[in-house]
Amino acid sequence: MKTDSEVLNAENAVQDVIEKYQKFVNPLQAALLKIGGFDHIETTASGCVITDESGHEYIDCLGGFGVFSLGHRHPFVVQAVKDQLDRIPMSSKTFLNKPLADLAEMLASITPGNLQYTFMCNSGTEAVEGALKIARMATGRTEIVSTTGSYHGKTMGALSATGRDLYRAPFEPLLPGFTTVQWNDIDAVRTVVTDRTAAVIIEAVQGEGGIRLPSDDYLPAVREICTRNGALLIVDEVQTGLGRTGKLFAVEHWGVVPDIMTLAKALGGGVLPVGAFVSTEAIWDKVFRENPFIHSSTFGGGEAACAAALAALHIITTEHLDQRSAELGSYFLANLISLQKENPDILLEARGLGLMIGVEFLDPDIAKLVIGSLANRGVVAAYTLNNPNVIRIEPPLIIEKGQIDFVLEAFRAALNDARQLLTLLD
Ligand SMILES: Cc1ncc(COP(=O)(O)O)c(C=O)c1O
Repeated sequence: MKTDSEVLNAENAVQDVIEKYQKFVNPLQAALLKIGGFDHIETTASGCVITDESGHEYIDCLGGFGVFSLGHRHPFVVQAVKDQLDRIPMSSKTFLNKPLADLAEMLASITPGNLQYTFMCNSGTEAVEGALKIARMATGRTEIVSTTGSYHGKTMGALSATGRDLYRAPFEPLLPGFTTVQWNDIDAVRTVVTDRTAAVIIEAVQGEGGIRLPSDDYLPAVREICTRNGALLIVDEVQTGLGRTGKLFAVEHWGVVPDIMTLAKALGGGVLPVGAFVSTEAIWDKVFRENPFIHSSTFGGGEAACAAALAALHIITTEHLDQRSAELGSYFLANLISLQKENPDILLEARGLGLMIGVEFLDPDIAKLVIGSLANRGVVAAYTLNNPNVIRIEPPLIIEKGQIDFVLEAFRAALNDARQLLTLLD
């Protein structure tokens, strides 16, 4: 039990942070967090649980939008980073960087096909920027094809490939040469990909688009269309990568090997921000042969970041978190499908792959009510950025079955809360 003065201190701390958000960070964000019931400070976190300033605990089913595959503060990753901090966290970049070399070797060994060379950066959008740049340079072409509903980041190049007008319109004109085609439509890709196309960029499973899975023939067909036209296939595994969908990489569900793969989010083990793009020897040769610094990053590939990524990959591969994701994801999804069947007037569909699950609502406002009610009941979830009808469930891959059951109960109760509120409003 907290004393009255502890409760008061906690409330004052929240008020102080909100005021600073209002004055110095983002006033509308502060207001939205308040309305949504998220006006609490993430004070500590461990495993699948976030604790706020008052000691309330929440099971993290948002997982930092895919960052926390290993949960929060995984001890092995934290220790690896601490060890690296005590030696050399960032280097002068003049000499050799051993963690970078080890990490690149590790990525070459686990990524599919002949993906071999890695460039390290600091975020998903940077990984996409780099991928787009090397695709243009390696092919000598400029056109890029992406899909509706896609999310590749918010810097200018990645935004030019992102398929939601809400985020694009205020910044237009975006980069020339970008075309968007209907997601999961093979004919649409066939129509636009030509000998002027540098690359098609695609998520194997759309994350922010609403956890949308492609039909089984889609990715193999896109691969074939790219190959036939001499265009490169960039698969953006920033959210799907490293076990999230039940395989190490989502493309493996369809046996597809991209020419360039982007990674971020879970790559830093939930401890440090790390992004990367990985490609083939042939493409690397075309891009970096004459100038090894044609693309570079001051912070990318820093020793501490690479140590975090190496430790994360060690845990993911040795503890087979991809398989765990597949098994627990099937259990979670089966139960959410039952919940959908019990509530067809509110829920349209539950779908997903591994622990990348989306629950689609008929009405986005009800989805928002349910998110708020889940928070009150000790579960953190959020809607997908390009599709507010869909609540995403992306917990750490280390989640326990008992925690999944807790979330399912909370979901059931949150649906009832929403139903009751709607009855009152009728
Ligand atoms: C598939 C995909 N690509 C790229 C990004 C951008 O990553 P970041 O927010 O680290 O820039 C995201 C972020 O959600 C993503 O889901």
